[in-house]
Amino acid sequence: MLSSEDTDLLCRVDADTPMGKMMRQYWLPFGYSWEYEKDDQPQRIRLLGEDLIVWRSSEGELAVTQPNCPHRGVNFFYGRNEESGIRCAYHGWKFDVTGQCVEMPNEPAESNFKYKVKIKSYRCADFGGVAWVYMGADQLNLPQIPQFEWGLLPEENVNHAQKIVYECNWMQALEGELDSTHVYFLHRRLDPSDSPRFGLYHNDMRAKFHIVDKEYGFTYGAERTELDGNTYWRTTQFLFPFYGMFPAQDGVVPLSIYVPIDDYHTLHMGIWWKPSGPMEGTRRPSALLADELGALAPGVGPMKDEQHGKFFSHWWPKAAPDSDFLVNALAKKTKNMTGIPTVRLQDSAVIHSMGPIMDRTKEHLGTTDASIIRARRSLIRAAVAFDKEGKMPPGSENPQKYFVRSCATILEPNLKWEDALEDWHNCKTNEFPRLLSESNRPFQERILPNQ
Ligand code: FES
Ligand SMILES: [Fe+2]
Repeated sequence: MLSSEDTDLLCRVDADTPMGKMMRQYWLPFGYSWEYEKDDQPQRIRLLGEDLIVWRSSEGELAVTQPNCPHRGVNFFYGRNEESGIRCAYHGWKFDVTGQCVEMPNEPAESNFKYKVKIKSYRCADFGGVAWVYMGADQLNLPQIPQFEWGLLPEENVNHAQKIVYECNWMQALEGELDSTHVYFLHRRLDPSDSPRFGLYHNDMRAKFHIVDKEYGFTYGAERTELDGNTYWRTTQFLFPFYGMFPAQDGVVPLSIYVPIDDYHTLHMGIWWKPSGPMEGTRRPSALLADELGALAPGVGPMKDEQHGKFFSHWWPKAAPDSDFLVNALAKKTKNMTGIPTVRLQDSAVIHSMGPIMDRTKEHLGTTDASIIRARRSLIRAAVAFDKEGKMPPGSENPQKYFVRSCATILEPNLKWEDALEDWHNCKTNEFPRLLSESNRPFQERILPNQ
């Protein structure tokens, strides 16, 4: 349980809140590089409660700037992105990627007024096929973008599986990522003998948690006993401030990103990569749902038509509160726990159903919520320490530490998980730590690709 004061401290991210100030010490991913083309239409985004406009200059430089013109307040969404700058549609004032005004066509030719006018422009960059922005107050001394392994691999080793706007607070989305015991309940198929296409299954619902603090957050191993006495380990990474690497198998690693759009909306992106070689499938999000009753598709399904007037206008999903997440009653009765057509949408339904910001004064946490408790405490502690003492939050000054992985595998019961998995977790080997041979590998479950 959390007091309402601590819930506010944890969840609220506007510029004047401790968490909002702390988040501004990190680079924020907000889209795919391919979404923003040179001299193309400016696009609306909102991050940490701040509305912004994104555009890419004729030279290919990404720009994230304030939305309203400093002349008389017209929104640059209606402006023109042309010849190395963005031009306001009303009187033609034009600004370059640094925010400097470079033209004022309605002022006298001899006027030097333009040199005195500048708009807010945040530093931004492309890394790993993703567009990033840094919203910290110091725009001169920037940290490096977190050096995730997927950002350093060839393009074909990486699948950008999904991008979606959630209509709820970022923290309840992240909490779902760090919650290992929901996996074999929420995402289960009803009949264990059915194909894994209909959902997951494991006999042991009671994982034991082992949490280890790291410079970037923490890692934990969730331990379950297999029917043959071996140990099934699911390891997860929590990386400040809003990243989770949940466990997957067969040499693939997934990252889930939950960037706060504002207190009531979250931008979720999911990225999968294979350190040892090319990934199968598309590099971009799939909009498809399975056509077999109760079978689960990867990703988050199709998007609504462009949501004109809204931020991230192309990324509002059809499966949302206003469609009950496309639940199918027959699939729910006969095939899987929820009747909702993808694993990610099943997560989406439960976190939205808690309300825009979950009231944590009413919750009852159990022993298996240990990782959620640890994440909340460490986030609140870091936000307060930054706000009160200027202490830099975890990972913000160590971007190289983000070069880690998670995994799900079976180990012999006497092996120490941290030692056995260390080389894989720290990207020192591309050989997946499958310590039992394929023939005697009694894996209870295979996780669907791109869950
Ligand atoms: S309002 Fe933008 S140029 Fe006048
Ligand atoms: Fe889930």
